[in-house]
Amino acid sequence: MVQATPLLLVLFLALGAHGLAVKKCSLTGRWVNDLGSNMTIASVNAKGLFAGSYHTAVTATSNEIKQSPLQGSMQKSPNQKGQPTFGFTVNWSFSDSVTVFTGQCFVDEQGKEVLKTMWLLRSHVDSIKNDWKATRVGTNVFTRLQLQE
Ligand SMILES: *[C@@H]1O[C@H](CO)[C@@H](O)[C@H](O)[C@H]1NC(C)=O
Ligand SMILES: *[C@@H]1O[C@H](CO)[C@@H](O)[C@H](O)[C@H]1NC(C)=O
Repeated sequence: MVQATPLLLVLFLALGAHGLAVKKCSLTGRWVNDLGSNMTIASVNAKGLFAGSYHTAVTATSNEIKQSPLQGSMQKSPNQKGQPTFGFTVNWSFSDSVTVFTGQCFVDEQGKEVLKTMWLLRSHVDSIKNDWKATRVGTNVFTRLQLQE
């Protein structure tokens, strides 16, 4: 008993410190959004640059959906406090369109990581007269994709 007490104290301190540690939001991994679109971000490098792939569940075209590459950058400034801002571009591989996303990686009140984003989708139009209708705007919320075992 005399020897067990310090061990319990160490355990208690370790668990307590763990509970207090502020969870950080990481962009790396597989995400799904409110429309059922999937996105994979491979890794974020030392400069904050990242690449990945986007599998959309929706399209503004009648073309068959294909997985498309994305490239982006994340703010690495220490002021980000574990909830970094980021932006990325999706180059749609099945259409003439490009989408840019901007957002922030948050840890919500349940400790879950969530990406709150806004996007602009630029469609190709045949002439400058149609420019006015070429850009759509929207929002998406991404959470980590949970795979069934
Ligand atoms: C997203 O991933 C899930 C799980 O792998 C899959 O069931 C779903 O069909 C995917 N959706 C798209 C749009 O790729
Ligand atoms: C963008 O998509 C086009 C059409 O699919 C492809 O030819 C081009 O290589 C892509 N560019 C990048 C940077 O992925």
